[in-house]
Order: sequence, then C-alpha cells, then structure tokens
Amino acid sequence: MATELIWDLELIKRYDQTGPRYTSYPTALQFADNFGVDAYHAAAADSATARRPLSLYFHIPFCARVCYYCGCNKVVTKRREHAEPYLQSLFHEIEMQSALMGHDQAVEQLHWGGGTPTFLNPTQMQALMDKTAKHFNLVSGDFGDYSIEIDPREADWSTIGHLRSLGFNRISIGVQDFNPTVQQAVNRVQSEEETRDVIDAARALTFKSINIDLIYGLPFQSCASFMETVDKVIEIRPDRLSVFNYAHMPDRFMPQRRINSEDLPSPQEKLAILENTITRLLDAGYVYIGMDHFALPDDNLALAQEKGSLHRNFQGYTTHSQCDLIGMGVSSISRVGNVYAQNHANMEEYTSRINNGKLAIRRGLLMNEDDRIRSAVINQLICHFRLDTKPIEEKFGIRFHDYFADAINKLSTMATDGLIRMDKQSIVVEPRGRLLIRNICMQFDTYQQVAEVQRFSRVI
Ligand SMILES: C[S@@+](CC[C@H](N)C(=O)[O-])C[C@H]1O[C@@H](n2cnc3c(N)ncnc32)[C@H](O)[C@@H]1O
Ligand code: SF4
Repeated sequence: MATELIWDLELIKRYDQTGPRYTSYPTALQFADNFGVDAYHAAAADSATARRPLSLYFHIPFCARVCYYCGCNKVVTKRREHAEPYLQSLFHEIEMQSALMGHDQAVEQLHWGGGTPTFLNPTQMQALMDKTAKHFNLVSGDFGDYSIEIDPREADWSTIGHLRSLGFNRISIGVQDFNPTVQQAVNRVQSEEETRDVIDAARALTFKSINIDLIYGLPFQSCASFMETVDKVIEIRPDRLSVFNYAHMPDRFMPQRRINSEDLPSPQEKLAILENTITRLLDAGYVYIGMDHFALPDDNLALAQEKGSLHRNFQGYTTHSQCDLIGMGVSSISRVGNVYAQNHANMEEYTSRINNGKLAIRRGLLMNEDDRIRSAVINQLICHFRLDTKPIEEKFGIRFHDYFADAINKLSTMATDGLIRMDKQSIVVEPRGRLLIRNICMQFDTYQQVAEVQRFSRVI
C-alpha cells in the first residue's frame, strides 16, 4: 500500500497553497444570495418523478462546551431547553421538505451532524427519528447507512444503545488528540476511557463502522506527542480515520482567539507530523482514500474506491453517489439534481423562516452544463486519482482535450514534475501527486481566482 502515496517534500513545499476541499463543485463560495427557490422546487419534483434514493442530513448545532479550535457551525449553551424549539423547527422543515418529495424515495443514507447531536435527550432523539420515519421512507434491516457524530463526553453505553435502537449503524467519534496538554490548550479534556467506552459500546452493539476524527496542528503538538495518539488510535483500529489539518483563522472563528499562535507547531513540525502519521497508518494497513481520509481495506469506502464508485459530498467521501441530498437544520446544504441550496446559518433567521411556513434557503446555485462537466471531472479525480477521458466525452458530448485545452496546458507542468501522467485517454495521479490532489483539481475549476483562494485553508 505504501507505494500508493509518496511523500515528496520538495514538491509539497513547491505546490503548497490555499485551495478548496471540493466537497462540492462549484464550491459554496459560488452560491448566490439571489437564488430562486423555484429552482429547488423544480429539482425536487424531478427527483420525485425519477424516484431517486435520498440522503438526509440533520444539523444539530448545540454544544455544551466550546473547543477553541472549532470551525463548525454551532451554538454553545449549557441550557438544554434550547433544543426544544429548534426541534420543533426541524419538524416543520421535515414536513415541508418531504412534501416536495415522493413517499417511495428510499432514504439510503441518513446523518446527524453538529455541533453535538447527543445534546438532544433520548426522548428528543426518538421524536426526531419518529418524525423522520413518518415523513420519509427509511429503509429497515441495516440496509441503509445511518450515521451520527459523537462527542464521547456527551455519550455513554446507554446513549449508544439508544442510537442503535433508533436505527443508527455507523458512528463518527471526535477525539482530536489524546495528549492532556493539547486537550487543555483547546478546552477539550476527554479521557481515553471516555473514548474507549463509546467505541466498546458501538462494537458490542454491532455498529457497521466506526470513524475517529483527529486534528494535527493544534497547540503544543509535536511529532513525538502526536505519534503517541496515532499509535493509540491504531491499537483501537477504527474502520475509518479523518486526520484534519488545523487551520488557525481567529478572524473568522471567534473561539480560536483563545489559542496562542506561539503555542502552535511550526510549519516544519506540522509537515513532520503529517508525514509520520501517513507512514504509520499505511504501515498499519490503512488505505489512503484521499483528502484527510483513511480506511481499512475492507471498509466500504476503500471497496468503493477500488470499484470506481466513490463520490464526494458535504460530508466527505461517500458510497451513495446516486442519492439526492436533503440538508435540514441551520446552515445545512442540500444537493438535489443540479441544484445546491444552503439554509440560513443564523439561528434566528432559520427559525423565523421555517416557523413562517417557508423553506429556510438563504443561497444556492443551479449548475449549468459547464459546472456539470467540471464537477464530474473533479469528482472522478478526487475520489479515484484517475480520470478516463472517454466516459466524460461520451456523457457530455465534448472533445476532452479541446474543451480543457487550458487545464491540460497547466497540467503539463505537473506532469513534468511527476504529480501526474497523462495522455489522450487518461490522467493518472501519481503516488507523489496524491497529497496535492486539490492543486490538480483546481486546474479544472473555472471559478478559481486569486481573491477567492485566500479564503481557503492551505492544501497541506
Ligand atoms: C462537528 S465535529 C464532530 C462531533 C462532535 N461535535 C465532536 O466534536 O466530537 C466535526 C469534526 O470537525 C473537526 N474540526 C472542527 N473544527 C476544526 C478545525 N478548525 N480544523 C480542523 N478540524 C476541525 C473535528 O475533528 C471534529 O471532530
Ligand atoms: S468540535 Fe464538536 S464539540 Fe467541540 S465545539 Fe466543535 S462541534 Fe462542539
């Protein structure tokens, strides 16, 4: 496996720049404020007619405590009663969204993200799942992928048991780092026992898959200290691992102002952390899926990548490429057919719209033909590190090398540098180009402009 990824420091340094993560193309920066909700309604009607399967995302934004590094859309509060009115809004939104869809569209994928979904109490969680089941066609018998994000400080065996009985069969667990000094510095003190407890519970209760989130680049991390965390994670052996790069942007994310930039590891140390993390994970038998993600070879993500059926969306990599995605809750994003639509990220705006009987769509985008072509190319490259030109030519009626003459021109330098190899039939990302996949995808991104690039995190 190790040959699938080659660490080439000189290339990494040369190509390291800011860039989008391509959880969508066009990226959310292109979503327009004046987006007409009619386009969303029309896309939903098409989805219903075609009976396309669905993926449902619910955003539960509450957290009882704040982690200083956090860049997620969240509401920090100790007052549990705040969840109740929010839940009522979600129920209204479920009614409105389901009315646009067909009753027979199978929900193949469902995800509760946050924030901290288990901020809801067991009765509220049950009510949310019951309401969803009443209005959508949930699949039974563990055929669907129903997942939830878990903060181990907010869950125990009984929570995990309750979630299993509600139909969840995948969990994603926030760990970030096991080191106590790092944990203190980011205000996320979480014992190893708490983490191991929820994982033991998930295994005993036959969850299909367990994911762990780590972050590198946090204050007081060193290569040696982070390798201790990585070794512990390898011993736990989750099916999937996300290793995120901490981007310190205190101007954008208020809680990050409580992190001293002098305490952050140097860029050289961060690179050493990443290199050693990758080496250890590959040596331990994990497959590099791409863009911060690793999986065991028998996990569905790795299998889908091998089969060529992997897809990327707002939740990262997914095996459900055929689904239309309906995002519900504050700040959630939907993709139905060729339409992206994002809800208001502001809680008051979101609830007031929903409680007035309107969808809470704040902005969105109707993809044009060019967007669809480029989206297919970027998805193929970012998921499979390879693009065959013929299927794209046949699907969209273009001559690949004419249509992308500009991109091909720019890619030829990357070919000379050994990131890719390309001919008339294909573009193949070489092992030393895989960590720089964003840079490669950016060549196909027509919206990439210097001003926008500043707003993204660095590639590595
Ligand atoms: C919504 S949280 C996961 C669920 C739960 N709230 C928790 O923290 O355990 C999603 C993940 O995003 C990652 N994350 C949050 N802020 C980040 C940042 N600024 N940089 C990199 N990763 C970040 C963390 O790994 C976190 O586990
Ligand atoms: S990392 Fe998770 S628990 Fe921490 S503040 Fe962010 S969403 Fe909340």
